[in-house]
Amino acid sequence: MKNSTAGSGPKRVTTRTIAEMKRGSSKIACLTAYDYLTARLLDQAGVDLILVGDSLGMVFQGHETTLAVTLEEMIYHTKAVIRGVERAMVVLDMPFMSYQASAEEGFRNAGRVMKETGAGAVKFEGGERIAELVRMTTQAGIPVVGHLGLTPQSIRQFGGYQPRGVSAGEAKRILRDAKALEEAGAFAVVLEKIPSSLAGKITKSLSIPTIGIGAGLQCDGQVLVVSDMLGIYEDFHPRFVRRYARLADTIRTAVGAYVNDVKTKKFPSQKESY
Ligand code: KIV
Repeated sequence: MKNSTAGSGPKRVTTRTIAEMKRGSSKIACLTAYDYLTARLLDQAGVDLILVGDSLGMVFQGHETTLAVTLEEMIYHTKAVIRGVERAMVVLDMPFMSYQASAEEGFRNAGRVMKETGAGAVKFEGGERIAELVRMTTQAGIPVVGHLGLTPQSIRQFGGYQPRGVSAGEAKRILRDAKALEEAGAFAVVLEKIPSSLAGKITKSLSIPTIGIGAGLQCDGQVLVVSDMLGIYEDFHPRFVRRYARLADTIRTAVGAYVNDVKTKKFPSQKESY
């Protein structure tokens, strides 16, 4: 990260800034990033939180799910992202099986990624089940973001990407999980693909911010996968993704023009040669 809160660059987003946003100063804008160049653009455009999501397993590595992503890969990508960021807070998504075996193992892995990457926080999927891990981690001074609702690391158990929290029983459980995360010390919680009414209820009952993805307008902030909202990842298009650009088309057109220029000897020109 190029500047610190004490440096000359833009004022860094911290857990305190995020808490103030919940109290009404502004909605929280979050996007994912996996590389230096994209992170730099998002930061320059004013994104508050940059999540190095394990969604990189799908949109960067081409896997069908996020399950194959390793801790080493998350560290590698987060280091690249950090180099591009001056203002935003960078959150590292703890990958599948880096914290599920025991709270102690998750705690040590969280400590390791904080030391090696310079990230500002880590994210874990789960609620009451991981409360002890969240408590240990936050008590050691590591800020934690929780993640509830459709948690992609449990996709094999869910059996698909259907919305969560639709039944009264599951909605109750998600609300209880959100409260458990807050009580354990998490500073924010991602709510993925749950009914807007439930997300609104959770947002009102928590003092920490909620960041929604497919969870409606009442959340304190929104997150999208950057390759989805830029229209680069075309494999599927869930209804909660708004496409702000169609970069896949732009890239194919540009690359097609380049290929044509090379084949027809129009590139390079005299001016582009030495
Ligand atoms: O991995 C990811 O990108 C995420 C977001 C979808 C919240 O967890």
